[in-house]
Amino acid sequence: MKNTILSGMRPTGALHLGHYFGVLNNWVALQNKYHCYYMVADWHALTDKEEFPSLKEVVKDMVITWMAAGIDPKKTVIFRQSEVKEHAELEVLLSIVAKMGDLQRIPTYKDASQNLKNKVGVFLYPLLQAADILLYRANAVPIGEDQIPHIEYARVLAQTLNKIAGKEVVPKPKPIITEAKRVPGTDGKAKMSKSLENTINLKDTEFKKLWPILSKVPTDPQRVKKDDPGNPAKCPIIYPYAQLVLSPKELTTMENNCRQAKWGCLDCKRQVAKSISEFFLPFRQKYAQLSKEADLVEKVLKAGAQKAQKKAEQTLSLVRPLFGL
Ligand code: TRP
Repeated sequence: MKNTILSGMRPTGALHLGHYFGVLNNWVALQNKYHCYYMVADWHALTDKEEFPSLKEVVKDMVITWMAAGIDPKKTVIFRQSEVKEHAELEVLLSIVAKMGDLQRIPTYKDASQNLKNKVGVFLYPLLQAADILLYRANAVPIGEDQIPHIEYARVLAQTLNKIAGKEVVPKPKPIITEAKRVPGTDGKAKMSKSLENTINLKDTEFKKLWPILSKVPTDPQRVKKDDPGNPAKCPIIYPYAQLVLSPKELTTMENNCRQAKWGCLDCKRQVAKSISEFFLPFRQKYAQLSKEADLVEKVLKAGAQKAQKKAEQTLSLVRPLFGL
């Protein structure tokens, strides 16, 4: 019997290299080993907004991006949180047994901006996330490190339900921490992130779009002249990108040519821009092809919601009786 995993992503805008190397390639790999549920966390995406423009296009773009990256709706259930109302029902039931103090201690709430801090939806964010996970009786949740407190909290609530039941009704989910690949922003900041405006979006990975950006980024500051030997470890942007997309042989060649001052920084930049462009060529082709298929995303999400709902209903039929319902 395959174990179940659930993960979610908030639809916040175009996905970039950080999403690919931090999350998506991991999600793709897990599809063959687990029953996977990948969720568009649209309700969660509302919690940090003060205005509510339509999410339709953002959701569509995200799902196409997932599929172009290799998430396969034949293997995996792809669905949209707001289409499976059972998430809300489980959230209500969990709220009956959840403790205020536990929620107050979770960092998301502590980190929220002042304007959002007094919003109930922000406070309940981890509760909804726990409902997402427990609803599918997920054994594991692939996530980044920042999400660990949320998984711990889902474990607490799983335990609470199991205690009421006097047996295991829902498993305690384990985090699967994505191997931390370093994807710095194009400004050299440690993390690529939309809010920092330092991203390379997956659909903008052709050489001609990369070159104007990459040709200008700083490299090893101690390498002033082309004849100075360089140190890849000191190269803040180009070298980490090279580690993501070059073959081991290409990488060694680049390292040697840098150290021996055979290549100037522009040569490395050209190689990296070329390699990123090639690496994501199949992605861009698939993305373009899927974008042309009318109603594709609607169909995928509808079929996904039906499958998700089936599992969700089974779980609720186990949970409702614990509350005397
Ligand atoms: N909070 C997650 C994030 O911001 C998204 C999310 C929502 C999620 N529900 C989930 C992740 C359930 C894992 C499991 O990245």
